[in-house]
Amino acid sequence: MTTTNQPHALTSIQYTRTRTASVAPEVMRERRLVMGLKNDPHANVFRLLRSNVLMQLREKNWTSIAVVAPTAECGKTFITANLGIALAMEVNQTVLIVDADLRNPQVGWYFGLDVEKGLLDYLQTDVRVEDLLVNPGFDRLVVLPGKHTTSVSSEMISLPKMTSLVDELKTRYQSRIVLFDLPPLLTSDDALLFMPHFDAALLVIEDGKTTPDEVRQSLTILDQTNLVGTVLNKSKGAVLPQYKQTLG
Ligand SMILES: Nc1ncnc2c1ncn2[C@@H]1O[C@H](COP(=O)(O)OP(=O)(O)OP(=O)(O)O)[C@@H](O)[C@H]1O
Ligand SMILES: [Mg+2]
Repeated sequence: MTTTNQPHALTSIQYTRTRTASVAPEVMRERRLVMGLKNDPHANVFRLLRSNVLMQLREKNWTSIAVVAPTAECGKTFITANLGIALAMEVNQTVLIVDADLRNPQVGWYFGLDVEKGLLDYLQTDVRVEDLLVNPGFDRLVVLPGKHTTSVSSEMISLPKMTSLVDELKTRYQSRIVLFDLPPLLTSDDALLFMPHFDAALLVIEDGKTTPDEVRQSLTILDQTNLVGTVLNKSKGAVLPQYKQTLG
């Protein structure tokens, strides 16, 4: 594996080469990919989340959202995967999910993808982005998965190659939404370093686990970031994740 720190000119990402790997229904059930299942009652909350998010993106002409959480296991990747499918189900909307959690890349797992190479391989070798993209069997949805992990993810995420990739992915298709799954806000500086590259963030908190202090610290980190909302996940009072446009 070679490492390159060179700024990278991305002149032509060819999406026509994207391979398709459909998720089997039993995998979706097991991994709670509820938006992919027919008539799953849990899907409604993601439709609501989609409408609220879309309304704001359209109003403000935003296209890129970082999905963040104070700590691990709050449900960032679960929310990112389901919201990604929900957004792509809108006929005029194409969606790209980027697994930018270089500490614990799990987007591929949610979609049951057999990932050979991911974002870190792109950053460290000469592999091309178009060879990493996968359509997980939903129209208008493409995933840039992660595979390998690194203990120096903030260094990786700050590489000029990463910043130019993000800028390229955001600007190439005006009508496309890009969702970025990021590492937890309070356990690394990856998200903090990278936040200026996104139009907005969606904050996921876990009912019964995330403390008020963690919410406050997260909001301080997101101080300069537009917040499209907060999701209260794993809510004890309801079966479904709950969404608030702002914390109020
Ligand atoms: N609403 C929910 N109901 C039940 N289980 C959930 C819910 N949301 C997430 N989970 C489960 O909780 C675990 C953590 O979820 P997930 O992997 O999405 O968290 P994460 O914030 O991405 O964690 P990490 O920071 O480690 O990547 C997973 O096993 C997931 O299936
Ligand atoms: Mg995750």
